[in-house]
Amino acid sequence: MKNSEKIFQKRKLTDVGATLLGNGLAFIEGEKWAKHRKLANHAFHGESLENMTPAIIASVETMLEKWKSLEVKEIEVYNEFRFLTSEVISRIAFGSNYLEGEKIFAMLNKLKILVSQNIHKTAIPFINKLWKPADMLESEKLEKGIQDCVMEMIKKREDKVVSGEADSFGTDFLGLLVNAYHDLDDKNRVSLEDLVGECKTIYYAGRENVNSLLAWIVLHLAIHGDWQEKARREVIDIFGNQNPHLEGIAKLKIMTMIINETLRLYGPSHGLPRTVAREGQLGKFILPADIDILSLNIGPHRDPHLWGDDVHLFKPERFAEGIAKATNYTATNYTAAAFFPFGLGPRSCVAMTLATIETKIALSMILQRYTITISPTYVHSPIAIITIQPQHGIQIILEPLHSC
Ligand code: HEM
Repeated sequence: MKNSEKIFQKRKLTDVGATLLGNGLAFIEGEKWAKHRKLANHAFHGESLENMTPAIIASVETMLEKWKSLEVKEIEVYNEFRFLTSEVISRIAFGSNYLEGEKIFAMLNKLKILVSQNIHKTAIPFINKLWKPADMLESEKLEKGIQDCVMEMIKKREDKVVSGEADSFGTDFLGLLVNAYHDLDDKNRVSLEDLVGECKTIYYAGRENVNSLLAWIVLHLAIHGDWQEKARREVIDIFGNQNPHLEGIAKLKIMTMIINETLRLYGPSHGLPRTVAREGQLGKFILPADIDILSLNIGPHRDPHLWGDDVHLFKPERFAEGIAKATNYTATNYTAAAFFPFGLGPRSCVAMTLATIETKIALSMILQRYTITISPTYVHSPIAIITIQPQHGIQIILEPLHSC
C-alpha cells in the first residue's frame, strides 16, 4: 500500500472504539501523530530498551516461580502470558506493576469486548447525540474509570517532584508524557485527554499483542517437538542456564525463524484498517474517496504463490535466510508487502523491537526449564477479538528439565 500522497489514512473509530483507543498513537493523524510518535520512539528504542531488560526478566521469573509450585503441570498459557505481559508493560512503561495496573486492565478487558461487538456498527449522525445505546453508556463509564486511574498515577509522579522525593517525572513512557503535559511550549505540550489516550493505547497494545504471540508460539513448539528441541539447544548454547542478555538475544537465529513463522500464520494483528481520504489507486483498483478498507494479513501471509504449496504448514526453515528470501518473489516491494506482521511504513509498530525482545526472553527462560507438550484437552479455535487469540485458551503440559 504505497501512501506517499496520504490517500490512505487511519480508519475513523466508532464511538465505542474511540473509548478504547481514541486519542492514542494508533489512530491519530498529522502533526499530533508526529509529536506523539517522537515520544513513543524515545520510550521504546535504543538505550531505553536496555534498561527494560531486567524488568522483563524479573517478570518472567515471577511467572516461572508460580509454575514451579504448581502440583499439576498442565497450564493454560494464554492466561498465564496475559499476567506476564501485563506485568511487563506496567513495569517498563508506567513504573508500576500488574497489581497497580489491575483496575485499568480489568476495565480495558471489558472495553475490548464491547469494542469487538460494535466494531462494524455505524452510528446514525445526530441520533447518537440524543440517544446512546447501552454499550456506549457502559464504555463511557469504563473510559471515565480508566481516566481516573491514570490521573492518580500522574498525581503520584507530580507529588514526588513537588515533595523533592524525585527530581523529574521519570524517563519511562509515563514520565515522558507527564513531562510533555507540563511543557510550556505549545508545540511540545500534550493535553490531559491525549495523555490518557496514550496510556490506554500502550497499556492495551503492550499487553495484548505479545500475549497472543507468545501463546501461539508455545502452541507450535508443543506440537513440533523437533523445533522446540532446536530452539532449546540454541538457547542453552548461547545462555547456558543463565538469564538472557541483549547481546545473546541478537544471536537467537532459530528462535527468530520460529517467531517469524508464527507471526506469518497467527500474527496477533490480522489487518491494517484504513480510510480512503480521496480517490486513489491501490494495485490495479481505483478506489473512491470515503470508503473504509481493511488490508488483511491472511491474504499475503497465506498466499501459495508467494510462499509455496506448503503455505499452511508451520515451517520456520523458510525464514532461514531472513525475511527477504522467505518468499518466491525477490522484488523488494513484493517481499515487504508479503509479510507485514508489524505493519508497514511510518505507521508500523512503534514497539516491534521491544515486543521481539520480550518474546525471546520469555521463550528462552521457559525452554531452559521445561519441555512442553500439548494437552489432549486443547481445542483449536482462533478468534479475532481485535487481536487473533485462542478462544478456549491453549492448554499445555510442562515437564521440568531439572528437578526444579
Ligand atoms: C507481537 C507484538 C506486536 C505486534 C504483532 C504488533 C503489530 C502492530 C501493527 C500491525 C501495527 C500497525 C497497525 C496499522 O498500521 O494499522 C502496530 C502499531 C502500533 N503498535 Fe504494535 N504490535 C505488537 C506489539 C506492540 C507493543 C508491545 C506495543 C506497546 C508497547 C505496541 C504499540 C503499538 C502502537 C502505539 C502502534 C501505533 C503506531 C503508529 O501508528 O504510529 N505494539 N503494531
